[in-house]
Amino acid sequence: MASPVKTLPVPVPVHRPRPHGVLRGLDSTLHSHFNEGRFGRMFRTLPAAKYSPEALKELGFRMTAQKEDTPTPETKSDPEENSGISAGYTYFGQFIDHDLTFDPASSLQKQNDPDALVDFRTPRFDLDNVYGRGPSDQPYLYRDDGLHMLLGKKLKGNDKDPNSRGVPRNSPENGEPSRALLGDPRDDENIIISNLQAAFLRFHNRMVDFLADRDGVAPEFEDVQRLVRWHYQWSVVNDFLPTIIGDETLDAILPHLAEGTNPLDTPPDLRFYHVTPGTEAYMPVEFSVAAYRFGHSMIRPIYRINLSNDRIPIFATNPPSLVGFRDFDENLAVDWSLFFHMPGSGADLTPERVQPAYKPDTSLVNPLGRLPASVAGDPPPSLAARNLLRGMQMGLPSGQAVAKRMGVPVIPDDKLMVGKASIDPNDQKVNVPIASIAGEFKGNAPLWFYILAEAFQQFDPAKEKPIRLGPVGGRIVGEVFAGLMMADSHSYLRQDPSWTPISEFCNAGKFGIAEMLVQSTKA
Ligand code: HEM
Repeated sequence: MASPVKTLPVPVPVHRPRPHGVLRGLDSTLHSHFNEGRFGRMFRTLPAAKYSPEALKELGFRMTAQKEDTPTPETKSDPEENSGISAGYTYFGQFIDHDLTFDPASSLQKQNDPDALVDFRTPRFDLDNVYGRGPSDQPYLYRDDGLHMLLGKKLKGNDKDPNSRGVPRNSPENGEPSRALLGDPRDDENIIISNLQAAFLRFHNRMVDFLADRDGVAPEFEDVQRLVRWHYQWSVVNDFLPTIIGDETLDAILPHLAEGTNPLDTPPDLRFYHVTPGTEAYMPVEFSVAAYRFGHSMIRPIYRINLSNDRIPIFATNPPSLVGFRDFDENLAVDWSLFFHMPGSGADLTPERVQPAYKPDTSLVNPLGRLPASVAGDPPPSLAARNLLRGMQMGLPSGQAVAKRMGVPVIPDDKLMVGKASIDPNDQKVNVPIASIAGEFKGNAPLWFYILAEAFQQFDPAKEKPIRLGPVGGRIVGEVFAGLMMADSHSYLRQDPSWTPISEFCNAGKFGIAEMLVQSTKA
């Protein structure tokens, strides 16, 4: 289908009340009407796959790894690690999710109708998880100048970033809860994403100061926000997407990247995700409830946050743990050189090394089998079971039905394995085919499972190469990202398709999440 680029309407200006004596320029800029979006379906004509809740719970149980008493030491190779994807991409992925999709009303106790659900995040790469509804509606996220974002307390433990700060919080008294003041509360869900959110706040502030120094005059808030969003969108297109779906799939969807042109001259090839011209983009449930939950299998059970602390488990009955939604120890400033390849990253199999993400496969680490109440209040506590049950409630088609509809080869049942990709995928003594768990899975695998099994297929025990999403998962994620960006009349791909990041922010001509984090330390 032709790209909707030239046909989407310009948003109608909405004038917001100006807060007391702060923001300049707000009245002259355009705002979208919407702070929310809607859910919908990519594959409307495919039938909903049906399962018994017992079979899904059993599959969720089998998709959760056994408890490991002793974590693999940092000086030994850990077979679960994905050689080409570092652990930071897991949390950058979670951060992007929180920018795009939020269904706060979802409860596993009730049936969900995706057509009736509201996405409480705009399905746009607009950083509403950072900016909230903007300085006039949520001034408590901003400094008095209306230009800088408010930061939280000083964090220590990372000598490479002496100015490290956390997210802003309330000052609780008498046992009241500590709450982070954020555009999206989920960006305090764990200590790593909380630090990443603070890094985005600092990147915004860095942009304010950089523009003021360069131009000799304080910038307009909207100009700063637009540049921050565009740098973020650039790193999503040029860094996150190739890492997760691979260059081949990305270039097939956004051919202008390989051809060195722009999306106006070389339009995207969107086959399954279409936004009707003149309407707001929607959030497909095939993405939010299945494909984009791939990240759950990349989570490690334990991380080194910085060189001042030992490694810390994601969840633990007794502290320390990385559980968020609380004011954590000031010594937990994240050292990003342990999460992304960047200056200061050390050699492999040392504590200073870049920690790889775990392989995307049909196995989640054991602690995700029992989420803390702060993360999931209602039953079941197993993240795998939640994803599978949610998929059925949302009426998702099976993985096989989607593969057929996409015209890609369907993976036979005996190759749809449940288990860890670090083990030979065909070793049926350890990994079992899904259809052996329940007959109802024959030719009828849940979409989230299928997308992970498809990634799992790429593991070759003879060759250590990165595992990325396969043809179904990679296409859904790639098309939704590209489609959302092309439907957003404020994205850099729409407004200025030949735009490139600020050269002073680049490293050897490249800009990605690592370069953004380097800039954030200058604020
Ligand atoms: C880091 C630890 C993480 C934890 C503890 C976590 C936990 C959760 C939980 C409890 C839900 C709600 C499940 C339900 O009831 O349906 C959820 C939803 C979701 N998660 Fe994660 N998650 C994590 C990381 C990630 C990552 C890395 C990604 C993707 C790269 C991701 C993608 C999603 C998506 C797309 C949803 C649905 C969001 C919505 O529409 O409301 N999560 N996660």
